[in-house]
Amino acid sequence: MALILSNECVGERVFLMKLQGLRAAPGQFYMLRPQERLSAPLLGRPISVFDADEEGLSFLYHMVGQGTALLAAKRAGEEVQAIGPFGNGFRFADRDLSVIGGGIGIAPLYYLLKEWKRRFPARKTEAFLGFSLESFMVSAFEDVSGRCQVNIGGFVTEDAPLAPGPLHVACGPLPMLRAAQKKAEGNGAELDLSLEARMACGAGACLGCSCATVAGNRRVCKDGPVFSAREVLL
Ligand SMILES: Cc1cc2nc3c(=O)[nH]c(=O)nc-3n(C[C@H](O)[C@H](O)[C@H](O)COP(=O)(O)OP(=O)(O)OC[C@H]3O[C@@H](n4cnc5c(N)ncnc54)[C@H](O)[C@@H]3O)c2cc1C
Ligand code: FES
Repeated sequence: MALILSNECVGERVFLMKLQGLRAAPGQFYMLRPQERLSAPLLGRPISVFDADEEGLSFLYHMVGQGTALLAAKRAGEEVQAIGPFGNGFRFADRDLSVIGGGIGIAPLYYLLKEWKRRFPARKTEAFLGFSLESFMVSAFEDVSGRCQVNIGGFVTEDAPLAPGPLHVACGPLPMLRAAQKKAEGNGAELDLSLEARMACGAGACLGCSCATVAGNRRVCKDGPVFSAREVLL
């Protein structure tokens, strides 16, 4: 069990939970469960690492159903079950970085930008954030990216140039990922996608999270969640 240091509402049904003493690389995720086994929900919920510091990890999550509603009801000083870290995480290279996030899909991109800035301070970073109704956590992204452009109610993939040069990374709803994949392919740009799937074990054992790729089915939890856009069939 991990101690909750804070759990704040930061937007419409969006919460930021900080857990003590955990470690992960950008792009990895934990299976979070509001209580220990033998009470509902029986399965943990995959939530990406939003940020990391010397105290622990933060998770940005959208309250959509039973599991995330129970997480949202938790208070500082209480505990949650946190199993992980899982997943391959983002790759790093000494080049410019451009990220595209849609809705709660912005969650894994903050830690990526922050770590990129620390490792490659001379490189340009930019963030294109899209929201359907209301933005959240934008000032945090402004702090870690050279340029941060927000789109509310439109198509964030139209803002993002997805041009050759930088590494592009996208996370968000499937239609957004498809549009980014198509644009990157047309432009000859290099794009990585962080995918979502319903998950049971989170650790590669149940095959419940597979996605189609040019090399056959792969597990989002173990082989991903980060894949090259050239590889996945969305
Ligand atoms: C690798 C990975 C990382 C993720 N990171 C985050 C994150 O950082 N923040 C965050 O808010 N969410 C994240 N998700 C999605 C999150 O896991 C689901 O929203 C969560 O499991 C919902 O649980 P619930 O019990 O509240 O909802 P449920 O009661 O299980 O479902 C409620 C509704 O949400 C939909 N839903 C459930 N799971 C998913 C999913 N994986 N993708 C799309 N729709 C889903 C259901 O279809 C249903 O309509 C991630 C998913 C994956 C696979
Ligand atoms: S969730 Fe079980 S294999 Fe991916």
